[in-house]
Amino acid sequence: MALSPEPVAPIGIFDSGLGGLTVVHALRDALPAEDLVYLGDTARVPYGPKSPDTVRRYADEICRWLLAQGVKAVVVACNTATAHALEHLRATLPVPVVGVIEPGARAAARATRGHVGVIGTSGTIRSHAYRRALAALAPEALVVEQPCPLFVPLVEEGWVDHPVTEQVAREYLAPLVAAGVDTVVLGCTHYPLLAPVLARVLPAGTTLIDSAAETARETAALLASRGLTAPAGRRGGLRLAATDAPDAFATLAARFLGAPVERVEHVGLA
Ligand code: DGL
Repeated sequence: MALSPEPVAPIGIFDSGLGGLTVVHALRDALPAEDLVYLGDTARVPYGPKSPDTVRRYADEICRWLLAQGVKAVVVACNTATAHALEHLRATLPVPVVGVIEPGARAAARATRGHVGVIGTSGTIRSHAYRRALAALAPEALVVEQPCPLFVPLVEEGWVDHPVTEQVAREYLAPLVAAGVDTVVLGCTHYPLLAPVLARVLPAGTTLIDSAAETARETAALLASRGLTAPAGRRGGLRLAATDAPDAFATLAARFLGAPVERVEHVGLA
């Protein structure tokens, strides 16, 4: 059945867990009139080590729930889900879908002087989705990809600015430093929280790319092009949901959003 969404319908956003809230933060800044519905798949996080088929199945289940909430567009606020499921979702959903990889690659292509590092989960790096996007946008750039699987658990543990995290970062980023990268794409939703540690480990002047702001800009342009922008002057709301442990989600979500979180719904999927 084809849907005909209204401009006042909410935007649906999802991630494997909390990290996508960095994108919610940017969407609220860029599109304050929009209602947002966010689902974090905390029951099945992390997506990073999982197979593409499994991540696609999770994305399908989440999008079915988001569509049942009447969303007019979907933002895949997870790099791993974007790498494995974006094309599939664009081909199958009746609403427009935005991912985080093209926007991140675009911002990196604008910033780089020729040497780009990409860090992400094992799944994102194995997919080479950033390498492909950068090859199209900045074909002359040298791209060095590096999986950083320990970063997500360190952030979830709250060790965002901790000596252990810095030691791990030195190990992971050594090949990027050796290659002389001038720009590093934070190709995972959790990594913007590690920016101070990463900046200490990388040579001074290295540009860190967080795709959240660029993703919000792309979402705004897409809604405008489809006549789906919410009327200016209204104040959009934020509905948060998680597939497990909503109370723990609420506590950590406040850190990602930089604001207190009152309520997180529990949603059972599948
Ligand atoms: N949200 C994931 C991403 O951006 C990181 C966490 C996970 O592995 O599920 O790739």
